Amino acid sequence: MANVRVGLVGACGRMGSLIVRRVLATEGMEISAAFDLVNIGKDIGEVVGVGPLNVPVSDSKDLAAVLKESNTDVLLDFTVAPATAANAPVAAAAGVNLIIGTTGLSAEQKTNITEAVIKNNVAAVISTNYSIGVGVFNKLIRQAAIYLGDDYDVEIIEAHHNQKKDAPSGTAMTAAEIISEAMGGKDIKSGRDGVCPRGKEIGVHAIRGGDIVGDHTVMFIGNSERIEIRHQAHSREIFVGGAVLAAKWVVSQKKGVVYEMADVLN
Ligand SMILES: NC(=O)c1ccc[n+]([C@@H]2O[C@H](COP(=O)([O-])OP(=O)(O)OC[C@H]3O[C@@H](n4cnc5c(N)ncnc54)[C@H](O)[C@@H]3O)[C@@H](O)[C@H]2O)c1
Repeated sequence: MANVRVGLVGACGRMGSLIVRRVLATEGMEISAAFDLVNIGKDIGEVVGVGPLNVPVSDSKDLAAVLKESNTDVLLDFTVAPATAANAPVAAAAGVNLIIGTTGLSAEQKTNITEAVIKNNVAAVISTNYSIGVGVFNKLIRQAAIYLGDDYDVEIIEAHHNQKKDAPSGTAMTAAEIISEAMGGKDIKSGRDGVCPRGKEIGVHAIRGGDIVGDHTVMFIGNSERIEIRHQAHSREIFVGGAVLAAKWVVSQKKGVVYEMADVLN
């Protein structure tokens, strides 16, 4: 069987460069295209330190042409929300499947990407967290929310490195949405400042410092007790492995569908 040909937007970033290395180490996959704002024209293999791959870093304004010329099967995007919002529909129109890891996308941006996936009959996975442990964590918090119900207050604390651009994290927002749905609807309140009358809400709090890869704690707080469910990522490799697994998986799935990481793991 032919190798799955993998393109990357944000190829020179923290996640992108680890994904390049992981794809090279994965049987049945190869790097076909790389895009970034930096290192344009340089060989992506040289940029990430694995030796020449004969794949230059391209400007994402040339996305459609480069994806077509390179016969890319699947494009992984780990950049920033405005870039993904612009690039994902272009890739879908070029007939390329998508793995979207960028966090901080608005509901409208997600809807636009979903419409492009359906219209162009490609398949996509959109997930705020590609780790296997967070897949389990999401199941545990859903169960806890169902068992405990509305009598318990819910607060979410997340911590990340000091370079993270968006806050709160996509994983924390996904956790809040899962719990809100399981508890029949709660507002999600990001941070509190000043006079804050407390409504029917889930509070979400973001800590930024040093090189923390990603911690998420959900607290279910009752009157005489509390439960805390915590996930801590020790290394980005856990997201990288999940994203590459999703890329290999998505190319053979039914088209016109946006999948979640839970679908990949199932
Ligand atoms: N879903 C997950 O499991 C997961 C895990 C880790 C990080 N993330 C998310 O992935 C994204 C990237 O994280 P990172 O730590 O690698 O960031 P980073 O800043 O190290 O890398 C981002 C890269 O994208 C490039 N970029 C920005 N705009 C671009 C554009 N318009 N076209 C092409 N390239 C562009 C930057 O130059 C940079 O090289 C963030 O949104 C982060 O929250 C998701």
